[in-house]
Amino acid sequence: MILNNSFRSREVPRKYPVVCNWVRNHNFDLLWFKICVLLYIYEKFNLNLKYNIVHSSLNFSLVTIMITKPQVFEFLKQYDLKNITIATVCSHSSLQIFDGARKEGFRTLGICIGKPPKFYEAFPKAKPDEYIIVDSYEDIMNKAEELRKKNTIIIPHGSFVAYLGTKNFADLKVPTFGNRVVLEWESDRDKEREWLLGAGIHMPEKIEDPRVINGPVMVKYHGAKGGKGFFVAKTYKEFNELVDRTQKFTIQEFITGTRYYLHYFYSPIRSEGYTLSKGVLELLSMDRRVESNADEIFRLGSPRELIEADIRPTYVVTGNVPLVARESLLPLIFSLGERVVEESLDLFGGMIGAFCLETVFTDSLEIKVFEISARIVAGTNLYISGSPYADLMQENLSTGRRIAQEIKIAVQTNQLDKIIS
Ligand SMILES: Nc1ncnc2c1ncn2[C@@H]1O[C@H](COP(=O)(O)OP(=O)(O)O)[C@@H](O)[C@H]1O
Ligand SMILES: [Mg+2]
Repeated sequence: MILNNSFRSREVPRKYPVVCNWVRNHNFDLLWFKICVLLYIYEKFNLNLKYNIVHSSLNFSLVTIMITKPQVFEFLKQYDLKNITIATVCSHSSLQIFDGARKEGFRTLGICIGKPPKFYEAFPKAKPDEYIIVDSYEDIMNKAEELRKKNTIIIPHGSFVAYLGTKNFADLKVPTFGNRVVLEWESDRDKEREWLLGAGIHMPEKIEDPRVINGPVMVKYHGAKGGKGFFVAKTYKEFNELVDRTQKFTIQEFITGTRYYLHYFYSPIRSEGYTLSKGVLELLSMDRRVESNADEIFRLGSPRELIEADIRPTYVVTGNVPLVARESLLPLIFSLGERVVEESLDLFGGMIGAFCLETVFTDSLEIKVFEISARIVAGTNLYISGSPYADLMQENLSTGRRIAQEIKIAVQTNQLDKIIS
């Protein structure tokens, strides 16, 4: 059960939520038992499986410590649903989230470290109504009760989850927009791959053995933030020169083409639009990330000249530029989003709200997906007053506003349980 291999079969993920619910509903502390078993195995075999065992155990633990839906609904029973506060950490896409929440009539609350960021003063329309100051991201865990007293619904974004840590985020005792179980599938590149391939999505090929590298590959470190440390290699020799073997890495075929980051929204409670087996799928916008130094490095010289000078591209996100896709690609773009959502409904009860597929469009007009983000992404910050796609649904519709709208509709129709975890 604990080893990665058993998770890989198609059967196990489908039974996984059932098993985890069973664990949660029992009073004994299986977590400690697991830790003891792991220590025993590690002691006894002291083997290469070390990483896999520990890693899988962490993942499994994530579910066992995750706050349950019934617990969240108990909190919601105490809420004054006419006075909901929308809260997030002041970073990433928070300006847009506060602006959108205010446009939908919600009170807003910014969580910040140390003191409120001064730049919020420069943007009065996006400045939250109030702040909660914490000493560190971990300190947010101690503010759960205070947040609940203010009828708070948390809107998670990439920085929120990254800085708080997936485990803390999973256990945060405040009602949160979206399905937190998605973390299980998203925070591990192997499980993410299983999900996307299961949905019939084309992904870059995974190279298991670096000795077979015979063309450009992208080497990615697990848990690396914003592409940090990633590198491209074309041969095994080059890979060996550049790799840091102390970190867990994945090797992927490097896809040549143009990158598109597709911003979708899945609503399980709407019924009109691009319908799925349950709910509707929306396409709100798209962007391309600007990455330093990869995007401008070639101003210095040709790839060969750069390698000779030992200057290599890096992939650290610094911002975003707007994009639209050719209209003939829209059916494929919708079908990708559709398949990912349908698979998520089967695997873990669905990925709710905003999500992004990070893709490369090739010159044969194929779309390869190299990553998924299961919440609002910073590329949507471009579209605070709408986008060429969102405008066709409603004027001034940002992703932040769409999230607030979903909460508003859910409250009005008594369906909060379908979009909160
Ligand atoms: N298979 C690939 N082919 C080409 N470029 C890639 C590929 N995978 C990632 N990249 C580039 O590396 C960047 C970071 O990769 P990603 O998998 O999104 O990592 P992160 O977890 O840091 O977001 C991407 O935005 C893209 O520019
Ligand atoms: Mg990415």
